[in-house]
Amino acid sequence: MDVLELRGVSKRLGRRMVVQDLDMTVREGEVYGFLGPNGAGKTTTIRMIVGLIRPTSGIIRICGHDIERNPVGALKHVGTIVENPEMYSYLTGRQNLIHYARLAGVRDIERRVAAVAERVGLAQRIDEKVKRYSLGMRQRLGVAQALLADPKLLVLDEPTNGLDPAGMREFRELIRRLASEGMAVFISSHLLAEVEQMCDRVAVIRDGRVITEADVADLRAGAGQVQIRVSDPATARATLLAAGWKAEDGGDRLRLMAKDDEAVAQAVRALVEAGLDVYEVTRAGGLEQSFLALTGAAQTGGEADAVVERAAQ
Ligand SMILES: Nc1ncnc2c1ncn2[C@@H]1O[C@H](COP(=O)(O)OP(=O)(O)OP(=O)(O)O)[C@@H](O)[C@H]1O
Ligand SMILES: [Mg+2]
Repeated sequence: MDVLELRGVSKRLGRRMVVQDLDMTVREGEVYGFLGPNGAGKTTTIRMIVGLIRPTSGIIRICGHDIERNPVGALKHVGTIVENPEMYSYLTGRQNLIHYARLAGVRDIERRVAAVAERVGLAQRIDEKVKRYSLGMRQRLGVAQALLADPKLLVLDEPTNGLDPAGMREFRELIRRLASEGMAVFISSHLLAEVEQMCDRVAVIRDGRVITEADVADLRAGAGQVQIRVSDPATARATLLAAGWKAEDGGDRLRLMAKDDEAVAQAVRALVEAGLDVYEVTRAGGLEQSFLALTGAAQTGGEADAVVERAAQ
């Protein structure tokens, strides 16, 4: 089931189009990564999804309900910690959750609070004061609060910012566990490594536009840019074009996008069968390189760092 749908969503702030023409779908049990550098439009998009601001144009549906026409029906399925979770540090985790459960009009509060604490792995320490929590525990308490109303969609804006590697890993495991129970999760990040390890699908956003969307499994399987050095680049390019490839001319090398290892093998076979000598095949290695190739940042050198920054871990 499609839990979240964005169709042609744009947002103008002042004179600027901050978000332009977004189309995205997040299904039940799927973790969807929204990857982009600072200022790309991630928070603006998230604020529209959770109903804090309205799109200038386009449609957002949550569990089939149009957020403009039926905000109550749509937003009751959304759990979020948009800004940093505001918890009372002199209260315990449980007291905080009870407070938020009351605000949210949750029924059977005690049972619900115990259930969400268990779900985020805080049950053992839920009666300690929040000021004694690590940042990772606070973040999980934020997720517990977001889960109080039993949402179908969890929306998180850069939730692992500031977490240490252990905290990140725990958070990732929590998100994966929630997804395996059927939760749809929409999560923004500027860290490729995080998205790579946590998400099923990913959209890369830059200057308010989605510049690529892909299955993380495809990227892992070797989707990415391939460079081939051959005896006769012009003939080679014509051969590949005739076989349906989009081969680009790169001097003495051809550049093409291959979706997996088999695609690379096919391209090489086509060249050899056409009587050409293949001297060298260079793969952009790994998910990171694939991303850079997909986003076109690889060609512009330094800009790559701004698009996807690898977490130091
Ligand atoms: N009220 C506003 N008026 C005009 N421009 C704004 C306003 N709020 C944000 N912007 C601009 O919109 C763009 C997108 O901002 P947004 O906060 O959505 O990006 P982001 O991807 O969340 O960035 P970050 O990684 O820094 O959190 C930025 O260039 C920002 O300067
Ligand atoms: Mg932001």
